[in-house]
Amino acid sequence: TSPLVISIDGTFASGKGTLGKQLAAHYGLAYLDTGKLYRAVAKAVLDAGGDPDDADDSEAAVKHIDTNALSDPILKSGPIGAAASKVAVHPGVRAALFDFQRDFAANPPNGAKGAVLDGRDIGTVICPDATVKFYIDATADERARRRHAELTGYGEDITLETVSAQLAERDARDSGRETAPLKPAPDAHLIDTTGLSIAEVLGRAARLVDAVL
Ligand code: C5P
Repeated sequence: TSPLVISIDGTFASGKGTLGKQLAAHYGLAYLDTGKLYRAVAKAVLDAGGDPDDADDSEAAVKHIDTNALSDPILKSGPIGAAASKVAVHPGVRAALFDFQRDFAANPPNGAKGAVLDGRDIGTVICPDATVKFYIDATADERARRRHAELTGYGEDITLETVSAQLAERDARDSGRETAPLKPAPDAHLIDTTGLSIAEVLGRAARLVDAVL
């Protein structure tokens, strides 16, 4: 039997990571935050003194990422996230990360019976045959507030205005790029998390998953 695959795509700070982890725990599935792969590439480019806007620098860096070190807290930082959205524009970077993501979904680690992957192109490009697809969004104001709280929680010194400006820039880059732009798959369930609690979002998503199990 093929694994149960749940794809979650959505905008920056929409709550897709939170939902992904909760769905994985709820159904006993493996979880992959694919943004961490692009963040790892970004860190490798910056560590090498390269430019994330440069395709050659970025493609060279993909070879140096350690997919076993994706939980490194440094990958969560704002500057790494911004650089990640730059390296993610290059088709060669996306192609180099394709097999790892496909394989995670097809052969979930630790004998899990399925996987949850979250990112920007999971339902559209990486797992077009996912069992259930979600597209998560929230208003720009709410996302900026959430992300600001998260970054200051890590000890980053940043204003809400700066976070709002970065968010607008990131949305435009992720949705406007030519290769695998952020957009809902035609068969994705849309959830707007504005004003919803984490439990409410999980409840809505789980009802939709339960309906196909
Ligand atoms: O979700 P996160 O903020 O960690 O992602 C960082 C960046 O990586 C995103 O802004 C996006 O440009 C890129 N990304 C992507 N495709 C994915 C996941 C992330 O292009 N599947």
